[in-house]
Amino acid sequence: MLIDDERLNDTQTTTDPGPGTSRRVQAVLDADLPGPRISRHLYGHFAEHLGRCIYGGFWVGEDSDVPHEGGIRLDVVEALRALDIPNLRWPGGCFADTYHWRDGVGPRDQRPAMVNSHWGDVVEDNAFGTHEFMALCELLGTDPYVSANVGSGTVREAAEWIEYLTRSDDSPMARLRRENGRDEPWKVPFWGLGNEPWGCGGGMSSGAYAELARQYGTYSLDHGDNHLYRIAAGAADADYRWTEVLMQNLGRYLGAGRVSGHGANTYQAISFHHYTIVGENWDAKGSATEFDADEYYRTMVKATEIERIIAGHANVMDAYDPDKRVGLVLDEWGTWFDVEPGTNPGFLFQQNTMRDALVASVHFDAFHRHADRLVMANIAQTVNVLQAMLLTDGDALVLTPSYHVFAMNKGHHDAASLPLTVRGNGPSRTVGQDELPTFSASASTKDGQVLLSLTNLDADEPLDVEIDVRGAAAGTPVGRLLTAPEIAAHNTASATPVQVRPLDDVSLTDGTLRVTLPAHSFATVSFATRD
Ligand code: AHR
Repeated sequence: MLIDDERLNDTQTTTDPGPGTSRRVQAVLDADLPGPRISRHLYGHFAEHLGRCIYGGFWVGEDSDVPHEGGIRLDVVEALRALDIPNLRWPGGCFADTYHWRDGVGPRDQRPAMVNSHWGDVVEDNAFGTHEFMALCELLGTDPYVSANVGSGTVREAAEWIEYLTRSDDSPMARLRRENGRDEPWKVPFWGLGNEPWGCGGGMSSGAYAELARQYGTYSLDHGDNHLYRIAAGAADADYRWTEVLMQNLGRYLGAGRVSGHGANTYQAISFHHYTIVGENWDAKGSATEFDADEYYRTMVKATEIERIIAGHANVMDAYDPDKRVGLVLDEWGTWFDVEPGTNPGFLFQQNTMRDALVASVHFDAFHRHADRLVMANIAQTVNVLQAMLLTDGDALVLTPSYHVFAMNKGHHDAASLPLTVRGNGPSRTVGQDELPTFSASASTKDGQVLLSLTNLDADEPLDVEIDVRGAAAGTPVGRLLTAPEIAAHNTASATPVQVRPLDDVSLTDGTLRVTLPAHSFATVSFATRD
């Protein structure tokens, strides 16, 4: 088992209308009060050697009939390019701490195989390795985020991997890279120091891992003009103590940026993982597609917990680093349901419904509100695993509802966040012991455009939204809507009921934006501002 059962919460629920239930919500948008920049890296991705994410998802091999470039699926590349994905984390996950990079370079037919012990106990032939991953990043136009093997590797192995990837002169590793067909070094901006060291990454205590992170960080060198942003592997969920220990062990100069001398920081950021998991226990997390209203609302209660957890880690970091120079990274997040019937339990293949899309949209609202500390987030995972953007079925490609949320929110990349405040309590539902706010929203501005993201979590009731737009004259609003008749609606190779369409119910007159959100829907509204 990878994750502690404490992650699961079997709250008994009702889905009664809560005291704040109403079909109307009012809010204020301060368009002239730009806040922290929303890093595009909050829209990052994650590709692990797990199930059909790499093999069949990204990689079909050079002999495939599926259109590809050098073995990499072109339909997947095209779909992800449309999202402007900012970074891709690889090779794991738990797999990263079993991966030995030298097995994945050189002629493919001579690469040694290994057992993927975490994911299905299948034989991994190492056909997809460093060169293939870097070629994928180049095709996607995305930044690589490479996770080193701290759990079962060596410091030397990790140091040599960086040299292999990023060094330009005639060093031993640069020479080996050239022998394997790549002359120029690559750029690698993000470097992970292991993964879940408290669990699959080595079963360590926070103190033991902090020592290792300093050691690995020290030898994770910058070569030439490649500057690594080193990310220490962090907590499960709300384990704030883990974050505190890592902050205490950071090094002499908080947020110094890179290792350039003795005593400089050995890592520049700290990660944590948080999945949206509901269900009785780890072996009964519930179906991705068959769920009732109770289960839907319990999922949303779990999803909205992300805000409290980000704030918890951020508070700990603030105590040590009030200038916010150390980054917080959520490098795994998303829904985790039971696998689809008949599929390999170790492959974590699940369908993706409107419920997943709304889990994503409320996460992004929380990310935007914490953009001062949260610098990166990576959905788990990009293709065919957990809350995927894309599902492949032979040569067919399916865009999931979650994919559309990433697409609709693209305008937030590197935009300045804007304060959007709900008046009063806002609508809610009582879910067991919890009060679930059923309206979620965030806003940003970039290049003279304002973008609002608006979510109505109520499964049954539409919501009239009225927003007082202050501080700027606003142009004509353009709305886009993602919803479906059923909250469990999902896309397959033969039917795509969940699609983005224009949002007609939107107007902006005399500084008041009015939108009607259908039940269980996500919408974006954009408009130009004039002084
Ligand atoms: O994303 C699947 C797994 O979840 C990752 O390998 C691991 O880091 C986490 O437990």
